[in-house]
Amino acid sequence: MLLDVERVRTGYGRLEVLHDISLHVEQGEIVTVLGPNGTGKTTLMRLLSGVLPVWAGQVSFDGTDLGRTTPEKRAALGLCQLPEGRGIFQTLTVGENLDLGAVSSRRSGAELRADRDRVLGVFPELAGRLAASASSLSGGQQQMLALARALMGRPRLLLIDELSFGLAPRIVGDLFTVVRDLREDGVTFLIVEQQASALRVSDRTYILRNGRNELDRPSAELLDSDELVASYLR
Ligand SMILES: Nc1ncnc2c1ncn2[C@@H]1O[C@H](COP(=O)(O)OP(=O)(O)O)[C@@H](O)[C@H]1O
Ligand SMILES: [Mg+2]
Repeated sequence: MLLDVERVRTGYGRLEVLHDISLHVEQGEIVTVLGPNGTGKTTLMRLLSGVLPVWAGQVSFDGTDLGRTTPEKRAALGLCQLPEGRGIFQTLTVGENLDLGAVSSRRSGAELRADRDRVLGVFPELAGRLAASASSLSGGQQQMLALARALMGRPRLLLIDELSFGLAPRIVGDLFTVVRDLREDGVTFLIVEQQASALRVSDRTYILRNGRNELDRPSAELLDSDELVASYLR
């Protein structure tokens, strides 16, 4: 098991947002956590990346207890994140944004160039725009850049907070195709989403409601399921 979250509680100040959450991700899986706005998806991402502490329960990544692991160490272990709102630096160039994805690593110049070439091979649209300001990119290209930057961190598990946010369905579909291809290259994914379109790309889905796990099902089962609709309406 690559990621194991066991009965975890966390929140902000005295406000508990995640109540007794348990979930796991196996090596090579694409797992979605689906839930409406305000249900705790971003809070879960912050817990996993180390911004928020574990109040109770246990989180482990490839056997390492994350409760005692700094955010920097997590990144070095291969736990990388594409944050909510993409986290692109608008005033920097595309190339500079990419390089920031590797700052926490100790790679040589040659290794960095090889990583950059590999990542640009995944996103040829960005290759011709390295010197352009990130702010000049379309929304879809900015999300590509966010994904490309995360790949520069050599993720084993990539956490993605709302890949679909603010993007047209066709562009979301293209990005999910890239996610599938990356899985073939050995990346495991945990994707939190509001949009059910994420079910098409993922193997397994948890439904999160009011900070609680309500369901754990193969995504294909949920695609045409009344349970999914019901979980959003309850
Ligand atoms: N920085 C914060 N301080 C206090 N409460 C927060 C903070 N961020 C989020 N919350 C609260 O935590 C709950 C879950 O938020 P969030 O994890 O952002 O949900 P989602 O990503 O599913 O939309 C909400 O009630 C929200 O108001
Ligand atoms: Mg959110």
